[in-house]
Amino acid sequence: MRKLSQVAAESTQRTATGMPELDRVLGGGLVQGSVVLIGGDPGIGKSTLLIQALASLSDRLPSLYVSGEESAEQISLRAQRLGLPAERLELLTETCVERILQIAGKAGVGQDGARILVLDSIQTFYSEQLSSAPGSVSQVRESAAQLVRFAKQTGTSLFLVGHVTKEGALAGPRVLEHMVDTVLYFEGEAGSQFRLVRAIKNRFGAVNELGVFAMTDKGLKEIANPSAIFLSRHDAEVSGSAILVTREGTRPLLVEVQALVDQSPLANPRRVALGLEQNRLSMLLAVLHRHGGIGLFDQDVYLNVVGGVRISETAADLPVLLAVLSSFRDRPLPQGLAAFGEVGLAGEIRPVPNGQERLREAVKHGFTRVILPKSNAPKSAPDGVQVIAVSRLSEALDAL
Ligand code: TYD
Ligand code: MG
Repeated sequence: MRKLSQVAAESTQRTATGMPELDRVLGGGLVQGSVVLIGGDPGIGKSTLLIQALASLSDRLPSLYVSGEESAEQISLRAQRLGLPAERLELLTETCVERILQIAGKAGVGQDGARILVLDSIQTFYSEQLSSAPGSVSQVRESAAQLVRFAKQTGTSLFLVGHVTKEGALAGPRVLEHMVDTVLYFEGEAGSQFRLVRAIKNRFGAVNELGVFAMTDKGLKEIANPSAIFLSRHDAEVSGSAILVTREGTRPLLVEVQALVDQSPLANPRRVALGLEQNRLSMLLAVLHRHGGIGLFDQDVYLNVVGGVRISETAADLPVLLAVLSSFRDRPLPQGLAAFGEVGLAGEIRPVPNGQERLREAVKHGFTRVILPKSNAPKSAPDGVQVIAVSRLSEALDAL
């Protein structure tokens, strides 16, 4: 037992992975001895991301890539095709956890053992201590428990790849998420070349942080200015489109939301939201009726966030309603308009965190008019931008 004050608060040791966007979602680099779980649909790029990161890391630290899915030839072929430096990277195809840990303990330089270990994927491994099949809940839990213990005892950093089920949850027990330090998730639209990696849990960084990549024929490439990809530049003004300034993790992003409001043939009109919470949409439509006087009971409402990004923060409320209204009236919003703000049940527009930073991001990308909550308004507006500060939903509607 020790007093908290006596525990040396040594700052966590972080290693750059050679991929700044990955470092960003990790909270500023890979923490020594941390366990990172990476989930995502099959074929989305989990193995590609890790082989790229590991090739770069193996330059500086002993690294071992353990695959229970692909043959050594397949992995080597991919690394060659990506032109990765692979002289120092150790490869192992093995599915028994006890043997993996034994080998990992010996691999690498001197007594240190492997400092970085990638396990692809956790569902393929099994422990000799159990008789159930690999991939079963008890095997996944036991394998992960042994691996986490190894990481904490030896200070080895661990990446675990996890498959997801059709419903989008990590396959295997939820307990996996509790055992690890960081959970990263691949998001993105099927068919799109963009890949988003989001931190949904992080003991060493901001949750909801987003890393943005593009899948190319040379592997994953980083997108340094992601705002550009979430805006579809329309040639002419279109109705039903609004630009919102969101702040996922620690950086602001400009994202387009599109709404389609159409006469419904159904007794219960449809409300469909992609990239946003469905219940939130229903709630916002109720507020629009009560406090904006616009009822959409006989209309289907479809909502989509461009680029496959999922927005979980309330700053999207106001732009969502602007997009819905624009589609309903079939009147495009003014060009150069961006918005953010939470809408309350009483029809009030509530402030959101980091208003100034969001405003700056909009200005940086050439937006000339920004609708925002009154409490987020700056004392003096930046040059060349008209700031429309509103405290009620009705004021925002009047402003258009
Ligand atoms: P992969 O990393 O194997 O996915 P996961 O491990 O998540 O299942 O990614 C495979 C997909 O990525 C596959 O459909 C091909 C594509 N890809 C490229 O487009 N370019 C590349 O350079 C690589 C390596 C893969
Ligand atoms: Mg894979």
